[in-house]
Amino acid sequence: MRRLALASLLIAALLARADAARAGAPQIQYMLHCQGCHLADGSGSPQAVPALRDFVGNFLRVPAGRQYLVQVPGSAQSPLSDAELAEVLNWMIREFGPAEIAATFEPFGADEVARYRDPPLTDVESVRRELLLAIDRERTGAHGERR
Ligand code: HEC
Repeated sequence: MRRLALASLLIAALLARADAARAGAPQIQYMLHCQGCHLADGSGSPQAVPALRDFVGNFLRVPAGRQYLVQVPGSAQSPLSDAELAEVLNWMIREFGPAEIAATFEPFGADEVARYRDPPLTDVESVRRELLLAIDRERTGAHGERR
């Protein structure tokens, strides 16, 4: 009886571990390589690291934003392979939203990441500023109506 209980505990533990490894790979990469600055909940820190939560997906509203998500130094210069980076970015967008983008976006693939990753972004700040203005125009609409 006790043996049976032990065996089923062991099996349950093994199954849980296999599940975590399958479902959690990009999240684990995020924890290892990104969370130090971006924090577990994607909130970042004021003045230093922008919040990903409820925002990062907005870059997909403008064409150059897709490329930016790959080229930003935290992504491009990470030790992740192209396929791993694609998965982490897809995970980030699903995890941090905004929800309407997470529900419909076209996921990144390794080929696309490889295409954008090189050369590095030289003036991150001004590229980011331009993108934020473009996103704002896109969300506000041409006639100044809030969507
Ligand atoms: C050393 C701190 C640091 C680490 C580690 C880091 N980032 Fe970042 N990240 C930043 C900063 C700061 C910005 C703002 C743009 C800039 O100045 O590079 C940023 C911006 C971003 C953006 C664009 C969001 C925006 O609002 O501009 C994405 C996407 C991103 N990082 C992804 C990642 C990924 C993926 C990883 C891990 C593989 C990662 N970052 C690791 C500091 C970091």
